[in-house]
Amino acid sequence: MGTTIQPHGGTLINRVVDGGEREQLLNRAAGLHQLRINTWAISDLDLIGVGAFSPLTGFMVEQDYHSVVERMRLADGTVWSIPITLGIDEKEAASLQIGQEVALVGESDGITYGLIKVESIYQVDQNHEAVKVFKTDDPAHPGVQKLFTKPSTYIGGPVQVLNRPKPEKFEDFYFDPSETRRIFAEKGWKTVVGFQTRNPVHRAHEYIQKSAMEIVDALFLNPLVGETKSDDISAEIRMKSYLVLLENYYPQDRVFLGVFPAAMRYAGPREAIFHAMVRKNYGCSHFIVGRDHAGVGDYYGTYEAQEIFSNFTAEELGITPLFFEHSFFCTKCGNMASSKTCPHPSSDHLHLSGTKVRALLRDGQCPPPQFTRPEVAEVLIEGMKEPEYQV
Ligand code: ADX
Repeated sequence: MGTTIQPHGGTLINRVVDGGEREQLLNRAAGLHQLRINTWAISDLDLIGVGAFSPLTGFMVEQDYHSVVERMRLADGTVWSIPITLGIDEKEAASLQIGQEVALVGESDGITYGLIKVESIYQVDQNHEAVKVFKTDDPAHPGVQKLFTKPSTYIGGPVQVLNRPKPEKFEDFYFDPSETRRIFAEKGWKTVVGFQTRNPVHRAHEYIQKSAMEIVDALFLNPLVGETKSDDISAEIRMKSYLVLLENYYPQDRVFLGVFPAAMRYAGPREAIFHAMVRKNYGCSHFIVGRDHAGVGDYYGTYEAQEIFSNFTAEELGITPLFFEHSFFCTKCGNMASSKTCPHPSSDHLHLSGTKVRALLRDGQCPPPQFTRPEVAEVLIEGMKEPEYQV
């Protein structure tokens, strides 16, 4: 018997159409209004299609949007913390009718990724959305910046996916929620802890993952590989570092690596809830939330992404968050620890900022092994020889 974790909302959504019906819809799409969509929207469309965003069946309609922004719930009360919306130029929107079907076409490749049945056309106040979702309207915040580049007219309605975006690399690590659910079940894992990351896995990550692994059947290492801000380490380098780490330091029969092809929002607390709901859809029973989860800069308190979970009941969440304190290597303890387990002052703790670690790696130097496994450091040093990191 495998995981019994229910998808969020109770049903794993599937809006991917194939076979004869797909052919038919593609033909029909050719005669429809063509809305050009960017990589981010393509990724959202696909994740809706495969049920990663269950119970969403499409881009949010006005009622759900407002409900999510104001109270972190869909209009029917289901927990949902991040608006999943489709922006459209105001003039273009004015030419559309409610009930009309629109083809969603990749802006750079002309591929028809899907269809949307327009149920709602609405204007939003993006400043308000930013303050509610990101807790700031500072355009220097990467999530807010992205939001402000989007038109402030949105269309919502159910979608159908007709073409899937093709991964450029690491195709073998792309799994839809229906696949991870099947795989976890086949492996006999009843409890699986999901781990979100947009970084290489350093010792602190490893420590909290393995602490969690002591109490569940397996770890689903689920790095986000969609759009991230330009100074985050590329998904390609990260994937290489995960593979070398897993090979050398993790039990092969208790860990599963699969990517999460979503865009990073940097919405801190709200994104932690979103990340947890999505991992539930992939079949996880537990989800790790450490310090400043999905945060950026100083916009969020260290544990705000944990505190936000107390707004919801365990039943509403349907996945158990596992909270971890800020973890570090303590030179006195001689091991990884947190303030929950270590009595020593912070002067005994190894602290390295992200900037410092990057500088070391760029110079071809390994950070201390108490911070990063040498095998991982080697991959990162090699990767950071690319010109984009030599700035
Ligand atoms: S995130 O933006 O994807 O959340 P990151 O990849 O840095 O960022 O973190 C992945 C997970 O590990 C998050 O749950 C984060 O809170 C947690 N985390 C990262 N570093 C630490 C640390 N030193 N101590 C405890 N938790 C941590």
